[in-house]
Amino acid sequence: MSDQAETLRSLMHEHRSAIEQVPAAVGQAHRPRRVVAVASGKGGVGKSNFCINFGLALQQVGTQPVVLDADMGFADVELLLGVQPRNTIFDVLSGKDVFDVIEVSSGGLHFLSSGNGLNVAPLTPEDVGRLSAHMDRLFERYDVVLIDAGAGDGGQLGYLLAEVDDLLLVTTPEPTAIADAYALVKMLSVRGQLPPVKIVVNKVPNFGEGRQAADKLKLAAQRFLGVELSVLGYVVEDAAVARAVMRQQALVQAFPTSPAARCMRQIVQNYTRSAQPPSRQGGTRVWERWLQRLRRR
Ligand SMILES: Nc1ncnc2c1ncn2[C@@H]1O[C@H](COP(=O)(O)OP(=O)(O)O)[C@@H](O)[C@H]1O
Ligand SMILES: [Mg+2]
Repeated sequence: MSDQAETLRSLMHEHRSAIEQVPAAVGQAHRPRRVVAVASGKGGVGKSNFCINFGLALQQVGTQPVVLDADMGFADVELLLGVQPRNTIFDVLSGKDVFDVIEVSSGGLHFLSSGNGLNVAPLTPEDVGRLSAHMDRLFERYDVVLIDAGAGDGGQLGYLLAEVDDLLLVTTPEPTAIADAYALVKMLSVRGQLPPVKIVVNKVPNFGEGRQAADKLKLAAQRFLGVELSVLGYVVEDAAVARAVMRQQALVQAFPTSPAARCMRQIVQNYTRSAQPPSRQGGTRVWERWLQRLRRR
């Protein structure tokens, strides 16, 4: 067996034992109807890639997500999926139904574009109300709205993250990424806007280093902020991610047996098997807060 295969096998073994400690789902509703945000302190840690692969891996286990690209000015989801959206959320205001502005990638991932960031005029309160009502209807067809929320501190992201059911906080093991993730948690926490946080450590050389990074973040939050963060899992650094990006396909579809794709499926298992409290808002407040900050073309 090659060294690489051996390393992967031991990584998988290590990961499996970590997974076995995840409690089984407690009374999970048939339709989870959750609003899940993917965010980070630092940019470039792998959020958008994580988001589309998490979405597709969720879909593979029977939970239907729709991805909302809310990383304003960095509409990467459509690029990563190789789709040029014909519609954005704003087309709802000219009379389209929300289900008609959703794009579907060739791999079957549903997503909602929020434009190219060149929107200038703020939405009127009436527009916010109309759009928000349409967004509420997403749960007629989807179980999870998965938001690519972008990077930043709590000042920038608090308005979007405050009401979500889960914040999947992506970091890498680099001290700068961990420090920025901590800064995001701190600012959200100080403002009373901290949703339940699940840490994902991406681009790890091995699970040991992933765990160390997650522990640093967890401990700092515990000690200095008195808040509990949980750990969702680790994704290995894998050249297949960049190859999938070049093909404009999601990793879990382009390279399903790659180490990082295996990690993604494992993370989805951890997510669906972990105890999930009922959705806090069922969406409305999230959309309203987000839409109030959006700029219309
Ligand atoms: N697990 C991984 N292994 C290797 N490279 C990765 C991994 N995840 C992401 N990348 C790379 O990191 C870069 C940033 O990813 P992206 O998803 O665009 O980050 P973000 O949305 O946080 O800015 C891309 O070049 C991508 O190919
Ligand atoms: Mg991104």
